[in-house]
Amino acid sequence: MTAPILKNDIFLRSLMREPVPYTPLWLMRQAGRYLPEYNETRARAGSFLALAQNREYACEVTLQPLLRFKLDAAILFSDILTIPHAMGLGLDFLTGEGPKFAHPVRHEDDVKKLVVPDMAKLQYVFDAVSLIRKELDGKVPLIGFAGSPWTVGCYMVEGQGSSDYRLIKTMLYSRPDLLHRILEINAQATTEYLNAQIQAGAQAVMIFDSWGGVLADGLFHEFSLAYTHKVMRGLIREHEGRKVPAIVFTKGGAQWIEQIASIGCDAVGLDWTANLAHVRQRTADSVALQGNLDPMALFGGEAAIRAEARRVIDDFGPVKNGGHVFNLGHGISRFTPPEAVSVLVDEVHTYSRAMHQN
Ligand code: CP3
Repeated sequence: MTAPILKNDIFLRSLMREPVPYTPLWLMRQAGRYLPEYNETRARAGSFLALAQNREYACEVTLQPLLRFKLDAAILFSDILTIPHAMGLGLDFLTGEGPKFAHPVRHEDDVKKLVVPDMAKLQYVFDAVSLIRKELDGKVPLIGFAGSPWTVGCYMVEGQGSSDYRLIKTMLYSRPDLLHRILEINAQATTEYLNAQIQAGAQAVMIFDSWGGVLADGLFHEFSLAYTHKVMRGLIREHEGRKVPAIVFTKGGAQWIEQIASIGCDAVGLDWTANLAHVRQRTADSVALQGNLDPMALFGGEAAIRAEARRVIDDFGPVKNGGHVFNLGHGISRFTPPEAVSVLVDEVHTYSRAMHQN
């Protein structure tokens, strides 16, 4: 079966730093609870996991934001915690409390039992990717994703979200050998998982290192970046006759931008604390940049949204040869009014198109 022609490949071209007519955009967590139609489908599915594990539902919610907004990419609806769930850690999403594992990995015995899961257990994800590609019919590219070995490791050891990362840092400082073992297994699993998504039809991939920024300088390199690098080295880089760009996003990672940019990724995601002009200077356009509007700017009303969007675009500077993918600096808040997203999409497209004509 030959894939339908991609009608809008501006996102992919911008990642490859090729000429584009405007700055493409998509939003982290673009399919989610700020959309009433998402909540409606989630209620029908019964739970977050039931939603993510059923390819028809996963496909439906992936496409929902694209029906409302002229976004330039779709992102697979799934979660970074599917891998540890497949490892047997027993994932549950408690309403209002976020993810929780029944069997966290805390002791030497837990670590000894840990193995790279059979990818057949994650077939529901690859099936969703294939179905979404079919339903997208070449409208925009589809992004596949995974968490970084470190970020997924945080949930595996803590058993849930954390404000101080005490348990995983206790392991890091007292038994680094155990943590290295976990990260090694995560890196192997993540490589296989992303490659299977690419083979199922993901046209770009993103690694979410959401909690890399909580590590001390030096330890970030040893416990997070080294393992993301390992994943990068094992990734399929071309599929269907086209390059498959890879994006690495470390929240709070701007101070390490040169090192992140040097692990073989095509783009680096940035949160809102980074200045795109400075980062661009430091990386000398060796990678594309993705970001970096503060998600809370979407609560400021129309004039503020337009002004802040322009600030991000102006900071990046001239974009004749792509290199910028507009995004938020982290996931969209569940309390965001959907109309704010319409305003943002309009401003990014209109303002950046005018800039590209100069
Ligand atoms: O971006 C998208 O639209 C694709 C879907 C996506 C989800 N999670 C769906 C989801 C993606 C890319 C993720 C990644 C993810 N998951 C990350 C990395 C990105 C980031 O935000 O830092 C992390 C850390 C997770 C783990 C996770 N999943 C948490 C902490 C939570 C609960 C907190 C929250 O934001 O609600 C989830 C649940 C989750 N994953 C939801 C969605 C839409 C909300 C669940 C619901 O419907 O109840």
